[in-house]
Amino acid sequence: MEEVESEGMKRGEEDSLVERIAGLVGRAMAHPWSGAQVADALASPRACLMCQEDDAGALLGFVLGRRVDQDVVEIDLVAVDPARRREGVGRAVLEELIAVERDGGVVEFRLELASLNAAALALYTAVGFVVVGRRARYYPDGDDALLLTWTAEDAAGGAGESERGGD
Ligand SMILES: CC(C)(COP(=O)(O)OP(=O)(O)OC[C@H]1O[C@@H](n2cnc3c(N)ncnc32)[C@H](O)[C@@H]1OP(=O)(O)O)[C@@H](O)C(=O)NCCC(=O)NCCS
Repeated sequence: MEEVESEGMKRGEEDSLVERIAGLVGRAMAHPWSGAQVADALASPRACLMCQEDDAGALLGFVLGRRVDQDVVEIDLVAVDPARRREGVGRAVLEELIAVERDGGVVEFRLELASLNAAALALYTAVGFVVVGRRARYYPDGDDALLLTWTAEDAAGGAGESERGGD
């Protein structure tokens, strides 16, 4: 597992990381971020990123977020190589990011998710996220957006499978 700081990297390292993440996103997602979007996100001093590689250094999965407040992280992207799913990679990168950011003072993690993305919803609830809101027909395809949060209290209480209501 590798925590990647977006600041202080050498130019070549940053380019190669952007290419590897953009490549994985292109393979993993139906509506992937562009390389420019990935580059912008990684260039932010607020970015937080956790990656997992295989023994040969190939990128298996990552989670990318950003600090939206001193103690709050918003998660923007989680993706795992389609050939390596259900092996625990998504869970590992999410749990490691949460642990590292909690050590840095973060108390809450937030994200927004298409309600029909059953795999991602199952992953997030498995690591302790709770659905706290819903935006009806939020996406262009008519799907609802779910709003999820992770707090230490919810995770400790095993409240991950409940929906606490919507807006
Ligand atoms: C969502 C995603 C990241 C999950 O990654 P993953 O490495 O396969 O997930 P894990 O193996 O760590 O799964 C952990 C738990 O999540 C749940 N889960 C993950 N994928 C699931 C699926 N397809 N169906 C049901 N439950 C699932 C399970 O509870 C699983 O535990 P288990 O395997 O012991 O049953 C992966 O499917 C992906 O890259 N999807 C495309 C990108 C995406 O939609 N990202 C979210 C929006 S940004």
